[in-house]
Amino acid sequence: MLTTRQTLSVKIIDLNYLGQGVAKEEGMIIFIDGAIPGDFAEIKIIEQKKKFAVGKLIKIITPSADRINPPCEYYDDCGGCQMMHMSYDAQLMCKKDRVINELKRASVNTEDVLINDTIGMNTPFNYRNKTTFSVSRKNNEIIIGPYEQGTYNTVDINNCMLQSNYADNVIALFKKLMKKYKLEPYDKNSGKGIIRNIVLRSNRQNDLMLIIVTAKEEFPNKDNLVNDLKSNAKEIKTIVQNINDKKTNLAMGHKNITLHGKGTIEDYIGELKFAISPETFFQINPQQTEILYKTAINYADLIKDDICFDIYCGIGTISLMAAKYAKKVYGVEIVEQSIINAKENAVINNISNTEFYAGKAEEIIPHLYKNNIKADVVIVDPPRKGCEKEVIDTINDMQPKKIVYISCNPSTLARDIKLLEAGGYKLKKVQPIDQFPWSVHTECVCLLEKK
Ligand SMILES: C[S@@+](CC[C@H](N)C(=O)[O-])C[C@H]1O[C@@H](n2cnc3c(N)ncnc32)[C@H](O)[C@@H]1O
Repeated sequence: MLTTRQTLSVKIIDLNYLGQGVAKEEGMIIFIDGAIPGDFAEIKIIEQKKKFAVGKLIKIITPSADRINPPCEYYDDCGGCQMMHMSYDAQLMCKKDRVINELKRASVNTEDVLINDTIGMNTPFNYRNKTTFSVSRKNNEIIIGPYEQGTYNTVDINNCMLQSNYADNVIALFKKLMKKYKLEPYDKNSGKGIIRNIVLRSNRQNDLMLIIVTAKEEFPNKDNLVNDLKSNAKEIKTIVQNINDKKTNLAMGHKNITLHGKGTIEDYIGELKFAISPETFFQINPQQTEILYKTAINYADLIKDDICFDIYCGIGTISLMAAKYAKKVYGVEIVEQSIINAKENAVINNISNTEFYAGKAEEIIPHLYKNNIKADVVIVDPPRKGCEKEVIDTINDMQPKKIVYISCNPSTLARDIKLLEAGGYKLKKVQPIDQFPWSVHTECVCLLEKK
């Protein structure tokens, strides 16, 4: 029986979904921050629950062959990455294993399923096209950076290995201009101050959209600030002020005011061009997104007579790619602005066989089906919580010949696949793709066909 404050030496046998090492002693599972499979480590039990314990890493006795020195100097404090103490190849293997384990845990039949190795990046750095940094004050200095692991405290960083160098420069410039114009960071406790967060979005031509999140609309020297930003960083193509006047930890509010440029930037995926607004979802790793979408389109194997549903379509990226091969594509998405962008994106790309609906997929998909609009192929790309039950039930009633499931959460993916299996489908192929190197997040594309 393990006891709190007990120290013991353990072999790490697995990694959990939070990136914690997993050990097993006296029949009890122990989760340990900072440990990886293959480590032999001294730990101290700091928490005891009914089914598991939490251990604190005291020292590594023998390191895993996969252990590396984290390449980023801020890794110990920053909450952005969780796997920088593990070699990139080992991370890719862990991500594949995670998908397999979740499928098995949900009792999905993995017999005869082609589960491919994770497709990683050749250079897994500078890939992010969006970063959200908080702004605060520490030791009387303005600091801008990500949140510390598990808290809402800002980590002071000068560069982030995951974002572009241009973005690093803009953050440094912004800090300088805050000082010049005496703009105070917003303080959650007192409600005083103005600048809450800085969000940077970029495209592969290194055009930047700078979003300044403020606690109220008016603040001194707004025009001077914008002019200085424009003249000192030519790569900033548009500046948007986002107003977040609520007592919340959400990064952005709902009101946007364009201070410079068009208020959107454009990026390409394959041959298609997309307009991106401040609050719309756009995959954060464009290089891997191309692989992700190509895999999804390949699995969908559309033919000219097919009706395709793209459920959880965002700004219509997959719908517009699928439209080239199908008779018609219906895209459904809850964020209204994304649907406005999706419709614009169809026009920009001269695509006329798509129809987009703003609303909850769990309401719109049953409604379309009731009105006799049925899909031959369904593509779903839900948020982390997976598909709503009504969406799965309608797909099972509709019986499309193929379902392509894109997931960023293997555990809800496995749950939903089990429900689709009960509706008459068989999982055929799984392709994990590393969209988020150095983090624990695991993305994959799955193909299901009728049994
Ligand atoms: C993982 S993203 C995928 C977006 C898009 N397929 C892409 O690749 O850019 C999930 C999307 O689902 C949307 N969403 C979340 N809940 C929804 C719901 N209940 N009904 C419809 N869309 C929803 C989100 O706004 C988000 O755009």
